[in-house]
Amino acid sequence: MKARVGIVGATGYTGEELLLLIARHPNIELAFATSEKEQGQKLCSYFPQFSLPSDMIFISADQALDHPVELVFLCLPAGESARLGKSFFSQGCKIIDLGADFRFADAQEYDRWYHQPHKAPELLSQAVYGLPEWYRKEVQGAKIVGNPGCYPTSALLALLPFNQQDLIAEQPIIIDSKSGLSGAGKTLSRASHFMEANENVVAYKAGRVHRHVGEMETILQRDAFSPGHILFTPQLVPMARGIFSCVYFTAKNAIADRDAMQILRDAYESEAFVHVLDDIPSTRLAQNSNHCFLHVLSFPETNQIVVFSAIDNLGKGASWQAVQNMNIMMNWPETTALI
Ligand SMILES: NC(=O)c1ccc[n+]([C@@H]2O[C@H](COP(=O)([O-])OP(=O)(O)OC[C@H]3O[C@@H](n4cnc5c(N)ncnc54)[C@H](OP(=O)(O)O)[C@@H]3O)[C@@H](O)[C@H]2O)c1
Repeated sequence: MKARVGIVGATGYTGEELLLLIARHPNIELAFATSEKEQGQKLCSYFPQFSLPSDMIFISADQALDHPVELVFLCLPAGESARLGKSFFSQGCKIIDLGADFRFADAQEYDRWYHQPHKAPELLSQAVYGLPEWYRKEVQGAKIVGNPGCYPTSALLALLPFNQQDLIAEQPIIIDSKSGLSGAGKTLSRASHFMEANENVVAYKAGRVHRHVGEMETILQRDAFSPGHILFTPQLVPMARGIFSCVYFTAKNAIADRDAMQILRDAYESEAFVHVLDDIPSTRLAQNSNHCFLHVLSFPETNQIVVFSAIDNLGKGASWQAVQNMNIMMNWPETTALI
């Protein structure tokens, strides 16, 4: 018997990507897909590119609560996932939130970065951070998974191998990231308008204001190491999908180039989705996949290190990683439907 799953917020970019993956997953079937704006519309008309049941229509998120499922993917703006997640959780349903509502263990820290009180603080102690390469064991037994943000996925996969060995000095970590426009979601803003984004590269929320700074610092600090604060410069580049991050930090000691590479290789040698390359990767390698590609350069004369990381923001940065988390939560082979 296939497990029944639902998508709340199915018309958005992450929801659309999940529909693609659910269609090819052998162990699950789609029980519902929600949209407030499109409720009553047929899914197969909205997404003619997928083979979807011809009679399935979008229902509202509140109606979805009447459809029992084993697991629900929440693809919603901040705040909405906690509100709706609470109701799904009370029905005994497993939750994977692609938004930020279950990424922080501390409600006050969430409030600090998302500028709103958390709507289900009592559930945070049950939620785990779903970066499987580092927190697989926690994901295995979890009922609620906070799927990591797209920028944090790219930067943390670069930093954690060094952080876990306490190699990062207490100086600012500089994260310079370029993202395709789908990272901004489907709702149009001035910055994501074609006329503004085409033939243009622009930084936004630079420094310490982007909310992903909080997520990245929280995860780096949870292993008791204190590598100093993050300076983060996200940039929009005129491509549909992909994130390319250059992560700069100062090491506590000089690390030879090949040793830096070996630290990454040791961390990910048994991982199906994280690859250490001999050269600097590009986003095209990771497009439409759950893969992350890394490379590192070390400058022992100044102890400086730069790690390059390429992912697909909708892939390893969102929906594909969410399916990886589902596979782990359900005790299925981790790569099911992903390779
Ligand atoms: N895009 C990315 O690359 C990416 C990567 C990692 C994480 N995320 C996170 O994943 C979440 C979804 O992102 P997205 O890019 O898919 O967003 P999106 O394209 O803007 O889609 C948002 C979805 O949420 C629904 N929605 C909005 N407000 C709602 C409400 N009050 N009640 C119920 N449904 C509501 C919308 O439904 P309607 O049809 O009714 O509008 C739509 O289906 C966000 O938290 C985002 O930060 C996104």
